[in-house]
Amino acid sequence: MDTDFLVIGSGIAGLNFALKAARYGKVVIVTKDKIEESNTFYAQGGLAAVFGKDDSTRLHIQDTLRTGDGISNRKIAEILAKEAPKAVMELKRSGVRFDSDKDGFKLSREAVHSRARIVHVSDITGREIEKVLVKKVKENKNIVLLEYHMAIKLLTENKRCIGCVMLDVKNNRTLPIFSKKIILAAGGAGMLYSKTTNPEITTGDGMAIAFKAGAVLEDMEFIQFHPTMLHNSSPSLLISETLRGEGALLKNKYGKTYMKKYHRDGELAPRDVVARFSTIEMKKTGSKNVYLDITHLNEEYLKKRFHYIYEECLKYKIDITKDMIPVSPAAHYMCGGIKIDEYGRTNIASLYAIGECACTQLHGADRLASNSLTEGMVFGTRLIGKIKKEIKKDKIIRTKIRDNTVYHEKNGRIKKLRKQLQNIMWQHAGIIRSKKGLKIAHIKIDKIKKKLDIIKNQGINKEILELNNLIRLAKIIIISALRRKESRGTHFIKDYNERHDNIWQMHLTIDKEHVKLK
Ligand code: SIN
Repeated sequence: MDTDFLVIGSGIAGLNFALKAARYGKVVIVTKDKIEESNTFYAQGGLAAVFGKDDSTRLHIQDTLRTGDGISNRKIAEILAKEAPKAVMELKRSGVRFDSDKDGFKLSREAVHSRARIVHVSDITGREIEKVLVKKVKENKNIVLLEYHMAIKLLTENKRCIGCVMLDVKNNRTLPIFSKKIILAAGGAGMLYSKTTNPEITTGDGMAIAFKAGAVLEDMEFIQFHPTMLHNSSPSLLISETLRGEGALLKNKYGKTYMKKYHRDGELAPRDVVARFSTIEMKKTGSKNVYLDITHLNEEYLKKRFHYIYEECLKYKIDITKDMIPVSPAAHYMCGGIKIDEYGRTNIASLYAIGECACTQLHGADRLASNSLTEGMVFGTRLIGKIKKEIKKDKIIRTKIRDNTVYHEKNGRIKKLRKQLQNIMWQHAGIIRSKKGLKIAHIKIDKIKKKLDIIKNQGINKEILELNNLIRLAKIIIISALRRKESRGTHFIKDYNERHDNIWQMHLTIDKEHVKLK
């Protein structure tokens, strides 16, 4: 199959890009599951954008930089803050019905936002955006959609990306797609951890195959943990930070608030701070969870504003208008990813990355809430603006692919190995790290890798490839975490308290030269 644009992933970044690219050429979107299944679909909060009368671009930039703990890229934060309102208006014109009143958008607040700035659709913002974009994609004659296809290998020739080999997941066969431009919009890797707010599909495939093809990754040690996942929920249920934005309080098992004693901003301190001190509070009180209490707000208002969370919690017999919600932290977002410039360009010609799998340096060491849907829109739009003219003169390059792939039946051992990996990462490369723990994790993960290699030699399938990708990323995260000799943002390591403000240490990049990873 040949195309002008090959988009891998179907969250907000990929779909927005695809719709715009379709004006200039043929687009193929490949996605591992059904098209809607993405982190975007589960996003509750919304899009950060300056619309409030008391707000300004300067304040949005300032809040982004503050959350990034000193290493967010100011220029990128400026681009985001300036272009965010346009991105939101585009979505509105496309049919996303953001909560509004006669004065304009109803804006909510999340941690570190100095103003109400989150444009939302109740507590199901991502779902509504995804629905609107998917509909438009399906109606577009220039877009071919391949669901249940997993990207397994980027094809390169003379340091240029020329396409990608896909695994047709349902029929277990491979399919090469050659393309003038290849855009990775494949999302994050929450599945690295035993507790995550992310769906099953988040196995970091985009980052892993890019790394293997020679792309540089950056800021990989910075994993954001969300403080409030409904404890023991399955599938995991996020309890949006917008609840804390509306005054919800975190309480320990004795019903006592605790965040103010750790940080002056209390519940609205940066996410890494809230996740860390909730973990500490849980340890201190010998509890596996803390509680979120929003019962002081009006019942009718709560049922309307947080309709989805209200309904979902009822399934666990928790009435959020009357009961405290048991919550605990969970892996939520990758601040790092494939290193790109301000137009989504990687170090490999014709290979681009946008959305969570990419690293613009916007988030730095921690991400300002609701900046990521906005980022997915803004940088996808910038990318098509940059490359749309190249498409006419670009040529499709094909190579012969020898397909001697052997397919493996589903295998219960893969599930077990994945679980082991997740537990190791949670214990040693999670919210509170140590040098010793990271080294132990590395050794243990090598053992899992050896077991996987034996299975992989007999054949592959989706689950095997996903685990292989997760292992590759786990090792990259651990190596990056060991290389950062300080605690900063989401990377909290007991061995280092002080910061190093040497410029060379601000962002750590990692490529195949750094690590011998197959
Ligand atoms: C939330 O609603 O708490 C999540 C928002 C985000 O991660 O940006």
